[in-house]
Amino acid sequence: MPPIDPQLIRADFPIFERDFGGRRLAYLDSAATSLKPRPVIDAVNDYNSRYTANVHRGIYTTGEEATAAYEAARVTAARFIGAPDHHEIVFVRNATEAINLVAYSWGRRNLRQADTIVLTELEHHANLVPWQLLSQEKDADLEFVAIDDDGRLNQQSFEVLLRTRPKLVAFTHVSNGIGTINPVKEMVAKAKAAGALVLIDGAQAVPHTAVDVVDLGCDFYVFSGHKVLGPTGSGALWARRELLEEMPPFMGGGEMIREVHLRRTTFNDVPWKFEAGTPDIAAAIGLGAALDYLTAIGMDHVRAHERALTGYALETLQEHVPDIQIYGPPSVDDRAGIVTFNLPGVHPHDVATLLDREAIAIRAGHHCTQPLHERLGETATCRASFNVYSDRDDIDRLAAGLRKVQRVFAGDGVATAPVAASR
Ligand code: ALA
Repeated sequence: MPPIDPQLIRADFPIFERDFGGRRLAYLDSAATSLKPRPVIDAVNDYNSRYTANVHRGIYTTGEEATAAYEAARVTAARFIGAPDHHEIVFVRNATEAINLVAYSWGRRNLRQADTIVLTELEHHANLVPWQLLSQEKDADLEFVAIDDDGRLNQQSFEVLLRTRPKLVAFTHVSNGIGTINPVKEMVAKAKAAGALVLIDGAQAVPHTAVDVVDLGCDFYVFSGHKVLGPTGSGALWARRELLEEMPPFMGGGEMIREVHLRRTTFNDVPWKFEAGTPDIAAAIGLGAALDYLTAIGMDHVRAHERALTGYALETLQEHVPDIQIYGPPSVDDRAGIVTFNLPGVHPHDVATLLDREAIAIRAGHHCTQPLHERLGETATCRASFNVYSDRDDIDRLAAGLRKVQRVFAGDGVATAPVAASR
């Protein structure tokens, strides 16, 4: 028996019960957002139907239940990424908000004119734009680690940039654009030796591989809940406690305060100092349920399943789809469950539209990584991405669907070809 049986797992995901023109959905867009299993849906519904109340306020049964469930989710999130102290987990809406929080709070206090932040050409816009805004405000410099033609970070370029003694190095654990798994631990060690703090964008790593922030040695680690089988509106920032203690609040309002007077305020302890206003309680509780679900499967099994599936996808697409151009590392050792590709002469939006007619969902576009696409010399690509419920049948359907797209564009298909968009 393989450790993961996607067919059994799919029974936990109600979306697979839906009929898509007589077919089951082949969902190959998990990198954009994952599907949600029943325990997550139930956890959210349970909060909304049985114990709705605000947290840290109500001195009554449901208020205490809500607070306990919300704080239990924090403990679960801490354990899931190896955080030594659950007070180091700040709940946020997504990884984007977490990075903005660090840029606004840590960055505005600590970055000075002519300081350097090192980023990479692989980054999602969420790990670029907040630093652009900060560096413009502070007149600081941004530098970018180059990638090689297979989409791996060029370590020589990284080492040269570290000689500038950057204040912060921020990079992705796994590329959402092309699936590269970066050698995070080695890179963190090099950055720390150069005196930098390190932020890791774990949005595409936490859903697919075991993460231990202490072992990685980083200072900040962020992830989104909605990519890790959890609800939208959930996510976490982890930071070493002493950093969180020193950082000023990100947003002001209720919950993040200790005492408020008309002209001055003292702030709550961490992490609540960073959680102004009523949080997305249901989403945080759902995130806890998602992480419990994945823990029961085992993250090593998740990685092994996706590694095997990625290998199968690379082989199958190369063998059965003539002329397909695949981007990213050729080896599954440093590639997560993401296969990015183009069919020469067919716009990715047309590919996705035709596949949708076969109930196959992929992403087409720049995947929030325009600089990476500029580096690849493309304005857009197609991306198939996997999760625990994905299987070989999804890949076989994708390969057959892509052949059909090619036939349509060669003029011998049955469907009417969409006009190739100039997007
Ligand atoms: N950032 C998400 C993706 O990679 C939305 O598709």
